[in-house]
Amino acid sequence: MSGKLSSPRDLFLASLAQMLWVERMLVFEVLPELQRQVESESLAAAVEEHLAQTHGHVARCEEAFRALGAEPASARHAGAAGLADQHRETTAKLAEPRLADLFHASAAIATEHLEIAGYDALIELARALGRDDVERLLAETRDEEAQTLEKLRKLAEKLRAQLA
Ligand SMILES: [Fe+2]
Repeated sequence: MSGKLSSPRDLFLASLAQMLWVERMLVFEVLPELQRQVESESLAAAVEEHLAQTHGHVARCEEAFRALGAEPASARHAGAAGLADQHRETTAKLAEPRLADLFHASAAIATEHLEIAGYDALIELARALGRDDVERLLAETRDEEAQTLEKLRKLAEKLRAQLA
């Protein structure tokens, strides 16, 4: 996606490219890195489950491109890149593993919020295209992100209790 955006379709595809970038970054960098970092078994299991799910999110973004007759493309998402940088900066300063797990859980919660916000925005743009099929694809992922957010909140609660 480059150049000027002159139609709702252009606008949608440009935003979709940023979301695909986020999902690919999660699959290829962030989640595998997190798997190596976490100590808590339940948090590790949640990360593994979400990694598998995120492969599906990548596939749905790619499917949405093809549904609109476009080749899947990805474009850097500045917000998600910033969140990943913040996560690495703080992780580098952490010394206590249990504190680290609580932090990783909180960072994952922040990422889910970012993704849910991104999919909500994409769904609004998809409505301008009148493509229910594309909207449904995005809503499926958005709902999975929301379920993951709930799971992470419960996990964070347990991690907090362990620290008390
Ligand atoms: Fe996702």
